[in-house]
Amino acid sequence: MIALGCDHGGYELMQEVKAFLDKKGWEYKDFGTDSTASTDYPIYAKRVGKAIQSGECEKGILICGTGIGISITANKMKGIRCALCHDVFSAEATRLHNDTQIVAMGGRVVGAGLALKIVETFLTTPFSNDERHIRRINQMESEE
Ligand code: RB5
Repeated sequence: MIALGCDHGGYELMQEVKAFLDKKGWEYKDFGTDSTASTDYPIYAKRVGKAIQSGECEKGILICGTGIGISITANKMKGIRCALCHDVFSAEATRLHNDTQIVAMGGRVVGAGLALKIVETFLTTPFSNDERHIRRINQMESEE
């Protein structure tokens, strides 16, 4: 199950992401927002982060205007690793190297074509399980 969260700045791109996930037949749970009315991105980052922490969802997609505020918020949550990605190389590398559960994007930064490639790459790339990457993730988490 994929957890989705966005603010007003990410709402329109999230509709494209949902249509893409529907087409792929990939299940998701939408944690809002549900319109372009102004709202606060931490609300949605926290909902998605909690869904990952609890095990309700395995992966998450967060979108705000830049992707910055929503990714910073998610990364403050224990055990959450969220990568802000605006290119396909980073989306692949962060799964292989960082075992990130959440990808964040900026709805005012990327177009739908690139965003959907980022989403597909992020969701289909497994963690490498390499010892050096596990070691680095553990070093990261010891700061929490
Ligand atoms: C909202 O205007 C905007 O600040 C938000 O979507 C995001 O870009 C924050 O980092």
